Amino acid sequence: MPSLAVIGIQWGDEGKGKIIDALTPSADVIVRYQGGANAGHTIVADGRTTVLHLVPSGVLHAGKRCLIGNGVVVDPQALLDEIDGLAAQGVTVTPASLAVSERAHVVMPYHKRLDQLRESLPGGQKIGTTGRGIGPCYADKIARLGVRICDLFDPEHLRRRVESALVEKNLLFRAHSAFDFDVDEVVREAAAYGDRLRPYVADTSRLVDDALDGGEKVVFEGAQGALLDIDFGTYPYVTSSNAGIGGIPVGAGISPARVGRVIGVAKGYATRVGEGPFPSEQRNALGDRLREVGREFGATTGRPRRCGWFDAVAARHAVRFCGVDAIALTKLDVLSGLDELKVAVAYRLGGSVIDRFPASIRDLAAVEPVFETLPGWREALGPAAALGYDGLPAAARDYIAFLEGAVGVPVEMVSVGAGREALLLRTASPWPD
Ligand code: IMP
Repeated sequence: MPSLAVIGIQWGDEGKGKIIDALTPSADVIVRYQGGANAGHTIVADGRTTVLHLVPSGVLHAGKRCLIGNGVVVDPQALLDEIDGLAAQGVTVTPASLAVSERAHVVMPYHKRLDQLRESLPGGQKIGTTGRGIGPCYADKIARLGVRICDLFDPEHLRRRVESALVEKNLLFRAHSAFDFDVDEVVREAAAYGDRLRPYVADTSRLVDDALDGGEKVVFEGAQGALLDIDFGTYPYVTSSNAGIGGIPVGAGISPARVGRVIGVAKGYATRVGEGPFPSEQRNALGDRLREVGREFGATTGRPRRCGWFDAVAARHAVRFCGVDAIALTKLDVLSGLDELKVAVAYRLGGSVIDRFPASIRDLAAVEPVFETLPGWREALGPAAALGYDGLPAAARDYIAFLEGAVGVPVEMVSVGAGREALLLRTASPWPD
């Protein structure tokens, strides 16, 4: 099956954009299938940095088709801003290069307001969301109160959808701030966005199947990471979609049997943004160093990321439930200059040592990682890119071999810098045979 999935196997920000950008020349179609403008995929090409939130990372390559599947929640303003921003960079997005599912749900202004309100209510649960309205939009989808892209083209129907969605929400908004949403205004704005988006709207589920039937190569571009998956992540400190493998069939609208190979993207260390347990976190000088050297600040919100050692227990969990075939290991250069490196290989919980990732958030918050210590290397890795994988310092290669053993799948790609040239491949082709 000529398809590849690229999924983050940590808490997001693993460098998926870069890996997808590298795979795009050999692909025909790139599909986003979950998440929304909470994602921030950074691509450095020809000395220019591009951050994409909704448009798939393949867009920077001419002649490719990028699809936004039904499982994505689309903020029309964010999408149109992104299309305009790309045009200003000389990347023209056309309906031939980008299609948006008619079944995708629309992030409405009241979703963003509700997201921000929930995060700020005293006594409420603070997740540390990106404030992009993701949770409330997915909640409305499941509660059957959502507005879909196809609804934007039918004013009467759109009005009824918005009315139903606002009944409960306006009660809350009025109680909290005496400000509520005017149905007519919301409908007018949404319909105007619909007019601008209309040329891009398509049945993307059919387009993916047609592409695969025609022998074209398809990349499924994950957003966030498996540990933020709504079912298998660190619930409730997760995003509101299936950021693991399950998001693909549902959110791209294809049979799971059509997913050919799964590449799990992981950094050589670990980061997370927002609240929630992070067993291998280093709230110390080492964590600060990783943040500074790795420039670990959110691409979407600018928030400093929490940093720590690679967690093989969490990675094994992600690799197992996502069926990961191989790993793309990123930002290995950030580890240069450390005397020693640590990897969490098990957890201590109460009196026992466990090697599985607990479901209970209280257990996860209580675990103590069992670390294995490995020698570091002093050399900068950037120049090694010219030498290929074998040009890496022996300690760096040993570290990679250790991770392969601890996680149980091979590392096929190693990124040692931001640019396109800094990606070392250990396989002739990541595509399935
Ligand atoms: P939401 O997706 O905005 O609802 O945020 C829920 C959690 O997921 C928060 O901890 C966010 O920081 C995290 N999150 C959402 N998107 C990303 C991402 O693209 N990278 C890293 N963390 C993310």
